[in-house]
Amino acid sequence: MQPCKLILALDLSSRQSARHLLGQLDGELRWVKVGLQMFTAHGPEWVREIAELGYRIFLDLKLHDIPHTVAKSVQSLCHLPIDMLTLHSSGGEEMLAAAEKAKRELNPDLLLLGVTVLTSMNAAQLNRIGVGNTPEEQVANLAALTRDAGIGGLVCSGRDLVSLAPRFGRSLQFVTPGIRPAGSSAHDQKRVVTPRRAAELGSHYIVVGRPIHQAHYPRGVVRTINRELALGDS
Ligand code: C5P
Repeated sequence: MQPCKLILALDLSSRQSARHLLGQLDGELRWVKVGLQMFTAHGPEWVREIAELGYRIFLDLKLHDIPHTVAKSVQSLCHLPIDMLTLHSSGGEEMLAAAEKAKRELNPDLLLLGVTVLTSMNAAQLNRIGVGNTPEEQVANLAALTRDAGIGGLVCSGRDLVSLAPRFGRSLQFVTPGIRPAGSSAHDQKRVVTPRRAAELGSHYIVVGRPIHQAHYPRGVVRTINRELALGDS
């Protein structure tokens, strides 16, 4: 089993509560995911502040536009202290390749991640936007497109890992949300896997939000998850 690292989804409404949580977790984890909610409210300065605390940053903006615009956005984002950035794979191979080229020139260490089918989309909704494939078929289709465009990683569910890891595990790094430690609430996540199971299925990074920020003792939850992931290394 390959090493699998924990990323905290920092989906909080205020910087004050995010700072408080990070203070409680000091020294326990290295990776933080900043999503649209916090980035649109607090911008690049917020990203720099978290980086200055010593965290590595996954910026989850799910870019999707014409290739030129996405490449220019990636160029701008390359000046931020970020380590991962998401794009919608459905933007197409040309858009993905343009993004990859832009980041290679300015920040080759930045890992771009394709997002395939949003888990909020079912077959009927895909059909309404003209996609005849099932969600599973479309995930596999877009994973291949992402790999072919030279992108290094993919956001994918625990369930999708079963088919994607054997097929794309050599060329793509997998980042997996929808993770719940044994015994914790699923919240609105429909299909969850435990940290250990995600790692066993081939995930390189797991993303966990509410089970950590809603806990009475977040540090304890992070420790338990890290212990579970470390056990898999042996
Ligand atoms: O709180 P929770 O652990 O469910 O948070 C999961 C994080 O992963 C959230 O930031 C959510 O937006 C993100 N995510 C997800 N499912 C996807 C893609 C991203 O839960 N398919």
